[in-house]
Amino acid sequence: MRIRDPKVVAKFAEMHVDLQPGKVLADLTSLGIGGTTDLLRIKNHESLPDLLKLLDANHIQHKFLGGGSNLLVGDGELPWVVLQLVRPEPDVVLDGNFAHVDAAADLGRMITFCAKNDLGGMEGLIGVPGTVGGALRMNAGAYGMQIGSYVREVKLFRAASRKIEVLRGNQISFEYRHTSFAPDDMMLAVILELPSKPYKEILQGIRICNEKRRSSQPLGQKSAGCIFKNPPGASAGRMIDELGLKGLSVGDARVSDRHANFFVNAGRASAKDMLRLIAEVRERVQKTYGVSLENEVVVWNA
Ligand code: EPU
Repeated sequence: MRIRDPKVVAKFAEMHVDLQPGKVLADLTSLGIGGTTDLLRIKNHESLPDLLKLLDANHIQHKFLGGGSNLLVGDGELPWVVLQLVRPEPDVVLDGNFAHVDAAADLGRMITFCAKNDLGGMEGLIGVPGTVGGALRMNAGAYGMQIGSYVREVKLFRAASRKIEVLRGNQISFEYRHTSFAPDDMMLAVILELPSKPYKEILQGIRICNEKRRSSQPLGQKSAGCIFKNPPGASAGRMIDELGLKGLSVGDARVSDRHANFFVNAGRASAKDMLRLIAEVRERVQKTYGVSLENEVVVWNA
């Protein structure tokens, strides 16, 4: 979608919103898949209510983009614009055991920064690409931990009220790869309470997680992490592997040879290829195991 109305474009500048016309979303996602639309980069959280009022009044649909690392975007010209926060400097401020983090902060860099200040707990998420906001909205987790356990407060833009709100940690439910946020709520900032731990000890944990990840996941390839959630008591990756589906391809969309729940873009895969591969694998798992796998990856299909 292209915003051409000069009156609307002029208002963006007043709101400190940077319009980047005709962005190819394949360049902004870890899968390297996605069509074209206008990108609106937001420098000031407080401008969101006015920005959304403006978009609503002009019937411009929108989506919120974090780090693009758990996302499959449709092909071609997309029917909505994309909103993304500009990362402020600094993006993490520490106050005792509390880390005040902007949603646009890089997850890995935030974990390392806290570690250097003897704050741990988040070691399991090292190596997970994306922003803190993205990790928060889906309650990212790995190696027995999840970000939700450390959340004390969240500032967000509520899609329903079109207002900025602050929620206490106990007002939010964090479950396995799921939260009580609405799909189109936008995370703005979070306060995490992290346990004190000596840097050396945290570093040891980080090294162990990095090693486990390197040995079992296709880190050098374009992917969105795990495609499916694990069904209760089972492993999607193991089931897909047992069916002999590693290497199964539709165009350049391919089930990873290293981890069967990672689907990689081995060249110039389209969203259509990837969606067909997802449907094919889901159908085969359903047929053999009687289990309907639920997407973990977020799909923005036009
Ligand atoms: N397995 C296979 N073949 C495969 C993949 C896995 O047999 O191709 C077996 C493994 O040997 C293991 C079991 O399946 O016995 C579980 O595998 P793994 O330890 O790799 O964990 P997972 O359940 O596949 C989950 C998360 C990952 C997270 C790891 C580590 C989900 C959907 N995935 O994977 O998260 O990194 O645990 O904690 O919950 C993600 O969210 O995108 C993600 C990658």
